[in-house]
Amino acid sequence: MGKSIEKIESEALKELKAALDLERIEFLSTKYLGRKGEVTFFLRNISKLPQEKRADAGKKANTVKKTLESAFTDAIRKFEEAQSKKGDAIDVSLPGRPVPRGTLHPITQISSQICDIFTKLGFDIAEGPEVETDYYNFEALNFPKDHPARDMQDTFFVSDNIVLRTHTSPLQVRVMEKTSPPVRIIAPGKVFRCDSDLTHTPMFHQVEGLMVDEGVSFGDLKGILTTFIHQMFDDEISLRFRPSFFPFTEPSAEVDILCVICRGKGCRVCSKTGWLEILGSGMVHPAVFENVKYDTSKYTGFAFGMGVERIAMLKYGIDDLRIFFNNDVRFLRQF
Ligand code: DAH
Repeated sequence: MGKSIEKIESEALKELKAALDLERIEFLSTKYLGRKGEVTFFLRNISKLPQEKRADAGKKANTVKKTLESAFTDAIRKFEEAQSKKGDAIDVSLPGRPVPRGTLHPITQISSQICDIFTKLGFDIAEGPEVETDYYNFEALNFPKDHPARDMQDTFFVSDNIVLRTHTSPLQVRVMEKTSPPVRIIAPGKVFRCDSDLTHTPMFHQVEGLMVDEGVSFGDLKGILTTFIHQMFDDEISLRFRPSFFPFTEPSAEVDILCVICRGKGCRVCSKTGWLEILGSGMVHPAVFENVKYDTSKYTGFAFGMGVERIAMLKYGIDDLRIFFNNDVRFLRQF
């Protein structure tokens, strides 16, 4: 009667073990257990066996049938489980989802460029509050109460004695109160003035500088600022110091640089003068030193303050200050 039931079983299990996909498993299931399958065929032909062998063969064949049935069901279940796990797994061959990448705001970039240049010159970075007392914003910087110099800065008052700082100069006082000379700091930060037009926004950014030691002179101020301008723009940009007035410096000077757009020929940006006003500076006023109890017979120092937006506008050739704060990504993406 052909193959023994043991042989059918071992062949079936061997083939099942080698099956690689669901179709093959199903094919084998039909091949052995289907209506015309080998096991079914064997069972059907038991009646043709001699009487004494029938019972034993039938028993064996039924056991094989059960074994194979559960082997096939197991194999199908395992295969389906593996398949569904595959669905959860990460497909490493897929292209990645791009993470939208932001950039630093141009003002932040310029501010850190300024800080980088000064840190390389040995300046430390100092920071202080944006909401300031009248004392640090004005009084300690030698702006007496009711002095007309206070009118130069349209101040936002929080209360009689509390203001939004109108400049970063309060940091001069705050740093000197806490440290004895030598002092070499720059202080970047936001400042506020009640002002709004094409060239003014109520909030803008400044970087303050201060250097105090024995024998610091106006020559040091010129040297440091020249190095700074050359690194910020280029070596061809010359500087011009114009006498000016600030209550906390004496003498005081406004610093102009050669127009970076027309290089001195005269253009719209420099109002045909060939020069651009870029920062205020001067030698620290003895009254300020007295306020922080520095020995004025021993120490001298210089200070300067510059507007970050102004420098950014010149560097990038931008003519409307307000565009920095409109949050238009089409503008911001360019930096
Ligand atoms: N604080 C001044 C302003 O906002 C700028 C300034 C001028 C700062 C002269 C200084 C300085 O440190 O020496 O207009």
